[in-house]
Amino acid sequence: MKLPILLTSMVAASHAAILGLDYGQQFTKAVLLAPGISFEIVLTDEGKRKDLSGILIRGGKHANDLERVYGSQTGSLCTRFPQSCVLDLKTLLGKSILDPSTRQYLAQHFGVTLIEDDTRAGSVKFDLGFANQSYAFTVEEVLAMNLNDIKTRALQTLQSTSHAIPLVEDVTISVPPFASPETRQSYLDALHLANFSNVLGLVDEGTAVALNYLTNRKFEASDYNDVAQRHLVFDMGAGSATATLFSFTPYKNGSIVLELENVGYDESFGGKLLTQSIYTIISEKFLAKFNLKHSDLTPKAVARLVEASEKAKLILSANTEYHVSLESIHDDKDFKTTVSRDEFEEINSDLMERITKPILDALNGLSVDELKSIVLNGGSTRVPFVQKHLIALVGEDKIAKSVNADESCALGTTLRGLKLKTKLSKPNDVIVIDKGFHNYEVAVNGEDDPKLVFEKGTLINEVSRVNLGAIANNLDIGLYEDGKLFKTYAFEDLVKKTEKFSCKSKDSKELFGYFTLDQNKMFDLTRVEVECVKEDKSILGKILNKGKSTEEATVNEDEDGEVIDTFGDDSANSTNSTETTTKKTTRAPPKPKTAHVPLPKASYPGVKPFLRTTKEKLVGKLAYLNSRDQQKAELESVRNNLESDCYQLRAYIEHYEDILSAEVEDLSEYESLVGEVIEWLEFESDDASIEDIKEKIAMVGKKHKRLARFVEIHSADISLKHIKNLQVEGSNFVNSLQEKLLTYGGQVQEIRGRYEAEGFDFDKENDRQRAALAAKGMDKLDKFDKTLEAYKNDLTTVGKSVGLSEEEYNSLSKDERYTFYELLTNGFANVLADLVSLEGGHIERLDALNEKFETLSARKKQKELKDKLKKSKKEAKVEEEPEAENGEDDDVVFEEDEPEQTSTETAEDSQQTASEIEHDEL
Ligand SMILES: *[C@@H]1O[C@H](CO)[C@@H](O)[C@H](O)[C@H]1NC(C)=O
Ligand SMILES: *[C@@H]1O[C@H](CO)[C@@H](O)[C@H](O)[C@H]1NC(C)=O
Ligand SMILES: *[C@@H]1O[C@H](CO)[C@@H](O)[C@H](O)[C@H]1NC(C)=O
Ligand SMILES: *[C@@H]1O[C@H](CO)[C@@H](O)[C@H](O)[C@H]1NC(C)=O
Ligand SMILES: *[C@@H]1O[C@H](CO)[C@@H](O)[C@H](O)[C@H]1NC(C)=O
Repeated sequence: MKLPILLTSMVAASHAAILGLDYGQQFTKAVLLAPGISFEIVLTDEGKRKDLSGILIRGGKHANDLERVYGSQTGSLCTRFPQSCVLDLKTLLGKSILDPSTRQYLAQHFGVTLIEDDTRAGSVKFDLGFANQSYAFTVEEVLAMNLNDIKTRALQTLQSTSHAIPLVEDVTISVPPFASPETRQSYLDALHLANFSNVLGLVDEGTAVALNYLTNRKFEASDYNDVAQRHLVFDMGAGSATATLFSFTPYKNGSIVLELENVGYDESFGGKLLTQSIYTIISEKFLAKFNLKHSDLTPKAVARLVEASEKAKLILSANTEYHVSLESIHDDKDFKTTVSRDEFEEINSDLMERITKPILDALNGLSVDELKSIVLNGGSTRVPFVQKHLIALVGEDKIAKSVNADESCALGTTLRGLKLKTKLSKPNDVIVIDKGFHNYEVAVNGEDDPKLVFEKGTLINEVSRVNLGAIANNLDIGLYEDGKLFKTYAFEDLVKKTEKFSCKSKDSKELFGYFTLDQNKMFDLTRVEVECVKEDKSILGKILNKGKSTEEATVNEDEDGEVIDTFGDDSANSTNSTETTTKKTTRAPPKPKTAHVPLPKASYPGVKPFLRTTKEKLVGKLAYLNSRDQQKAELESVRNNLESDCYQLRAYIEHYEDILSAEVEDLSEYESLVGEVIEWLEFESDDASIEDIKEKIAMVGKKHKRLARFVEIHSADISLKHIKNLQVEGSNFVNSLQEKLLTYGGQVQEIRGRYEAEGFDFDKENDRQRAALAAKGMDKLDKFDKTLEAYKNDLTTVGKSVGLSEEEYNSLSKDERYTFYELLTNGFANVLADLVSLEGGHIERLDALNEKFETLSARKKQKELKDKLKKSKKEAKVEEEPEAENGEDDDVVFEEDEPEQTSTETAEDSQQTASEIEHDEL
C-alpha cells in the first residue's frame, strides 16, 4: 500500500510533526511523523527503540533539588531504591486510592507509598519520601514527566533533521478499550501537563494495531472486491489482555473501510501476572532456604527477586529451566535455585481461561471459523505458554505475526493522529469506522434504572437530544458508563431560572439535553435547553402516555415536524428514536422555540479531574523542575568546559615550555593558577553559579591567549628588515589594487557607454544588480572599502616607525615590534580575503549587465520592427479607410513579461549622489 508515503507528503505540506505514544504498563514506544521523518521510532538516549515506562525521583545535592532519572536510564537504581521509583503507572491512571487495583499495586510494589490527594478526593499521589509536600506527585504529574521527556527527545530528533521545524504539539496516545471516563480524563490531563498544546485524540490500542495491520498489508488490484473479511487483534502486554474484533472491506472504488466491531478484555491479566507467578515460586524457595517469613522481606530483596522472575519468564520461553543466582541477597549470603518450565506452566494452569476469554467475549457468539486471522501484538504474546493456548483455540494457521508486536500500536496511533489532523479523505484511503464499546446511560434524580443514550456499538461523534422530563426546581442529571455513575450535573433553581420562558398553560415546560460521544469516547452532556411540549389533550392519552411520548402530540399538531424523544419505559426503542431526533434537529429550527439553560458545574463521584487552576499550578511546577534540570545541565556543561580549558592550558604550557620559560617571567604563576582552578572546581565550587564558572572560563581564556601571543612573538620574524619588507610589499600591493579597481571601473564605464548609446537606463540596471548581489551576500564594496582603508592606515603608521635606525628599533620592546608585524600581516590577510569575494561579485555583475544589455537591445529591435509594421499598416489603412483608428491593439503581440519602466521611475533613479556613482563604478 502506498498510503504512508501519500500521508507523509501531506504532513510535509503542513510542516506539522505528530507524535504517537504507546505508553505501556512496562514499556513505552513513541513514533514521530514529520517532514523528512516517516513514522520513525523516537530513540532513547542509549539508542534503544523502547523505553521503560517509569521514573526515579529522589533528592539532589541541595534542599528542594530533585534528581529525576527517566525510563531505562534508571538501570538498577529501581532495584536499589524501590521507594523512589514509579513503575507500572498505567494501572493507576484514573483509579481511586480505594480501588482494588490500587491495593494490588501496593502489594506488588513493595516500598512504594501512595497517599490520597486531598484536593481531588480519592485520587492517588506518590509519596517519595520528601518533606516538601509539593514533592508528592499525582499519577498524572508522573506520567507527564515521562511524556515530556519523550517530547524533548522528539524535539532533538527534529533539530537534527534539516527540513523539519522543531515543533511537537500534535500528539495521540493509545489507551486500552476498558479505560474508564476517569482514566481517559487522566490521560488527557497528563498530556496537558506534559505541555502538548494539541491533543489530537485518544486512540484505542486495538484500533491502532488494526490500522497498522492494514497499512502493512499488500493489496493487489483483485483484492478490491467489496468483500469484507474479519480479523482479530489479540494484544497482551504487561498489565492486560485485550481482543479487538475488526473487519475490513477493500471496495472496488479504491477505499478500504476498517470497521471496529467488538472488544473483549481482561484488565488485570498480562505478562506481569505471569512474572508474579514465577515470583511466587522463587520467593517461596527463597523464604524456605533462609527460613524467613513474608514480613521479613525487604523492598530491596523483593525488587531483586522480581528482577530474577522477569528474566525467568523470558528464559523459560525458550528453555526448560532457569537458574536463579542472587549474590549476597540475605545476610551476605547468596541464593541459588532453579525454576523449570513445568513448574511455571503448572502454577499458571488456571490462567489458561484468562487468555482465551477476551477473544470469546469479542467474538460474542461468533465462531472462530469466521476469523481470517488473529493478529498478535504485545510482548507477552511471545511467551510460548500464551501462544500454546491461542493455537489450541484457533489453530496454528490463523496465528498471524504480521505486525511488529512491539511497535505496531505506536505506529497505528501515529497514523490515526495524522488522519485526525488532516481529516483526509481520498481514494486509497483507509476509512475508519470506530465505535463506543460501552453502554452510556443517563438518569434523572438518581432514578433506579438509568436510560440508555448510546448503546454499545454506537458510532463515535454521535449527538443525541434527549428529553429529561418536566422542569422541577432541582434536577440531578447523572451520567453512567455500563451502569456506573461517573458524572453528575446538579441543576438548581430551575423554575426560577426558566421563568422568563413561558409556555401555553396546557403545555408542559421540559428540559432537553444534548449528549455526545466524542472522538475520545468520552460521554458528556454538552447543552441543555427548555422547550414547551404539547400536552396530549385526551384524558385517556394522558393516562397512557404519562407525558411519555410527546412524539405523537407534536407530530399531530403539525406545527412543525419536530420529533422528540422522551424517556419512556421502553429503552430499547429510545436509542433508535433519539437518532432520528438528532437528524431532525440539525435540519430546521423548531417552531416551539427553545431556550438555552447554562450547564452547572459537574461533580464526580470517583476521581475528579483537576481544576483548571490546579492544572495551571502543576504546569508551573513541572516547568520549574524542568528549568532547574536545565540549569543543572548547563552548569554541568560549563563546569566541563572550565575543566577542559584548564587541562588544555596546562598541556599548552608543557608543550611550549622551552619558549615560554624564556619569554614569560611569571610562567610559574600560570602553572599554579591552573592547579588552583582545577582544585577549586573539584572541592570548593559546589555553590558556584554559572556566572562564577563563566568568569573563571574567561579568566583562563585570557591567560591562554596571552601565552599564545608569547609563542607567536617567538616564532615571528620581527627584525627591522622583515618589517620593512612587509611594509614595502604592502604598499606595492595597495598600488596594484588601485590599478585593478580602476580597470573594474573602466569596465563598468564601458558598459555604461553602450547603455547610454542605446538610450537604456544604466543606473537602474546597475542598482538592480547591486541589490541582487547584496541579497546573495556578495555585495562587498562597502566592507572592502573599510578593510582597505584600515590597511592603508596601518601601512602609514608602520611606515613612520621603520624609518628608525636599527638600534632605535631594537630598543623597542618585543611586544611593540611584534605589534608592527601583527598589523601588517593581519591587514594584508583581511584585504586579500575581501578581494576574493569582491572579484567574484564584479565578474557576476559584469555578466549580468551585459546579458541585460542583450535583452534590452533585442527588445528595442522588436519595438522598432513593430513600429515600422504599424506605420506601414497605418499608411495602408490611410489609403483604404481613413477613419480606422484601432492599430493600438497590435501592441499586445509584443508585450513582454517585464513591463517597461515608467518615466517617473527613471527620473528618481538618476538622482544618485556622487559617492553612490563612484561606488557603482568600482
Ligand atoms: C517546596 O518546593 C517548592 C518547589 O516546588 C518550593 O518553591 C518551596 O519553597 C518548597 N517548600 C519548602 C517548605 O521548602
Ligand atoms: C467507496 O465505497 C464505500 C462503500 O460504499 C464508501 O464508504 C466510500 O466512501 C467510497 N469511496 C470513495 C472514494 O468514494
Ligand atoms: C418500538 O416501538 C414500536 C412502536 O413505536 C413498537 O411497535 C415496538 O414493539 C417497540 N420495540 C420495542 C423493542 O420495544
Ligand atoms: C431501529 O431502526 C432500525 C432501522 O431503522 C431497525 O432495523 C431496528 O429494528 C430499529 N430498532 C428498534 C429497537 O426499533
Ligand atoms: C511548552 O512548550 C512550548 C512550545 O514548545 C515551549 O515554548 C515552552 O517552553 C514549554 N513549556 C514548558 C514548561 O516546558
